Amino acid sequence: MPALSFQSVSKTYPAKQAGTAAFRALDQVSFDVQEGEFFGLLGPNGAGKTTLISILAGLTRASQGQVLVHGHNVQSDYAAARRLLGVVPQELVFDPFFTVRESLKIQSGYFGVKKNDAWIDELLDSLGLTDKANANMRQLSGGMKRRVLVAQALVHKPRVIVLDEPTAGVDVELRQTLWQFIAKLNKQGHTVLLTTHYLEEAEALCGRIAMLKRGQMVALEKTSVLLKSATSQVLRFKLDGDLPAAVAAVARVTGRIVQVPVNNALDIETCLNTVRSAGLVAEDVEIRQADLEDVFLEVMNRQQAQSGALA
Ligand SMILES: Nc1ncnc2c1ncn2[C@@H]1O[C@H](COP(=O)(O)OP(=O)(O)O)[C@@H](O)[C@H]1O
Ligand SMILES: [Mg+2]
Repeated sequence: MPALSFQSVSKTYPAKQAGTAAFRALDQVSFDVQEGEFFGLLGPNGAGKTTLISILAGLTRASQGQVLVHGHNVQSDYAAARRLLGVVPQELVFDPFFTVRESLKIQSGYFGVKKNDAWIDELLDSLGLTDKANANMRQLSGGMKRRVLVAQALVHKPRVIVLDEPTAGVDVELRQTLWQFIAKLNKQGHTVLLTTHYLEEAEALCGRIAMLKRGQMVALEKTSVLLKSATSQVLRFKLDGDLPAAVAAVARVTGRIVQVPVNNALDIETCLNTVRSAGLVAEDVEIRQADLEDVFLEVMNRQQAQSGALA
């Protein structure tokens, strides 16, 4: 039995006012996550990731389809499904009146877990929260609050851990602490479902990845297979001045750095020629293997891209 099963899940948000159209945020999304997997759910802003997680967590109802957690339907068998899940929400929601330790004790009580102090201490320690244990939630920085949200989600040792952009706007140190800890729990058998904008994190951590685009699944593969499916290589160079339109259409641009997917030597020549003909000089030219970000952009641009756009 899969740990998570999304079965033809659709979600339509009703029109906000008369005259505006209803919005279909999820369209027939189906996939399973097996027990023990580290699974990535990727997609641009607005793709429907948080909506899917809200349905899983029982915070929103699907318009169609169903979601099961270890066989328990998240609607008809809510309590059993919810108990198996630890969800770290994208939004920082917390109760400002309690200390960190009190928040964790209250959360334990909510799940009916008694004598949880040893595990709470371990959570505080693993997430670097020990010296904040008696601080009030409202006194904490955003990064610290994020750590508490993670601890809260894990307080009942859920079999399935769900993280919705846990590292958005978070410093490098917390990212490393967090991933070490989550990877350890995953090794111990906990299933992990993760959404993130940091594709190098997803590439390093996730064994399998689903991609959502405007509410539809557009990829579902092992990470290694996705990486192999990529355009074989990437041409990378630095450039001052405006990139010619033909190159801009297919390039990933970060400041002066331009990265263009290439299949063969002809692609490379064509691209560099286009740049040269525009009177520009490409500096620090190199060719590297495609990474998950390249694959992601390829998948997301698939409908728009025309072959031979460089020519
Ligand atoms: N409560 C809501 N009412 C109406 N539209 C919503 C609501 N929540 C999300 N949406 C819309 O649904 C789409 C998917 O949002 P979301 O699930 O948050 O995407 P993601 O997490 O992938 O960025 C977006 O276009 C968003 O504006
Ligand atoms: Mg989201």
